[in-house]
Amino acid sequence: ALISLRQLLDHAAEHNYGVPAFNVNNLEQMRAIMQAAEKTDSPVIVQASAGARKYARPQFLRYLMEAALEQYPDVPVCIHQDHGTSPDVCQRSIQMGFSSVMMDGSLREDGKTPADYGYNVQVTQRTVAFAHACGVSVEGEIGCLGSLETGMAGEEDGVGAEGILSADQLLTDPEEAARFVSATKVDALAIAIGTSHGAYKFSKKPTGDVLRIDRIKEIHARIPDTHLVMHGSSSVPQEWLEVINQYGGAIPETYGVPVEEIVEGIKFGVRKVNIDTDLRLASTGAIRKFLAENPAEFDPRKFLKQSMDAMAAICESRNEAFGCAGQG
Ligand code: G3H
Ligand code: 13P
Ligand code: NA
Ligand code: ZN
Repeated sequence: ALISLRQLLDHAAEHNYGVPAFNVNNLEQMRAIMQAAEKTDSPVIVQASAGARKYARPQFLRYLMEAALEQYPDVPVCIHQDHGTSPDVCQRSIQMGFSSVMMDGSLREDGKTPADYGYNVQVTQRTVAFAHACGVSVEGEIGCLGSLETGMAGEEDGVGAEGILSADQLLTDPEEAARFVSATKVDALAIAIGTSHGAYKFSKKPTGDVLRIDRIKEIHARIPDTHLVMHGSSSVPQEWLEVINQYGGAIPETYGVPVEEIVEGIKFGVRKVNIDTDLRLASTGAIRKFLAENPAEFDPRKFLKQSMDAMAAICESRNEAFGCAGQG
């Protein structure tokens, strides 16, 4: 059944768990996410980015989401638009049946230039006005996502600020977050606390302090009723990097956010945890391995099944780790 982000995250806050928000672009991802949600009895957030709309085309995505709701009537599903670059984009998603939208006003409409606070408040307020009138939740963002190591947003062609960001822009200011929430009335707030999008988050193996947990606590204390969202939360599984590289890939040494640190963040108010890269890596690894080991196979269903199973395994393990298994 379709559920709004507000309803879902209120329940998560009450019962102290986090919900993974998986990006969806195609049938296999959608089926993997739903299969894992059903198996672990979890609610789930499926989210579509601008890149997903471009790849799949809006109507295919729309009916893929409807198909998920019909095929799995007992799984609570929030259908969320990831990184909306304008109120118009958010409005179109609401018309298509999404139950939640992100208005990312931390960046200008180009999705690259850091925006000032006034612009962010203005576009987010406008979005909340029509979204709430339709029973749709809104996620906003304060602070620009980027690596504290390099000051870079992480993604080359995806969502994220261009150029080098200052330490100031890279960490959400708790006081500004509180002002933003009272001005906009967003249901959820994406915060910058040391994560970045994509596979290249950290160049050295993390030693247990990549997230600014202190900052999460300070923000949560100021806005206890606003659900905190952590973007860039892929863990970059080393076992999948090995499989990819063993079967012809060439991905340099790189690390993500350890699952244990995400679990720590959940203890202190993080409720929505965005994951895209981990499913991409698992999918690529599974396909490379299958094709290398079965060079005479040419039925795409064979390797796409491997991709689907590999992605479902990641989804299941995040549902378990974040405590949302059994909460469906
Ligand atoms: O926030 C970025 C997500 O990983 C979506 O990536 O824009 O390539 O679809 P994308
Ligand atoms: P990752 O690149 O870490 O998977 O983050 C995805 C994300 O934040 C989507 O909005
Ligand atoms: Na989002
Ligand atoms: Zn994101």
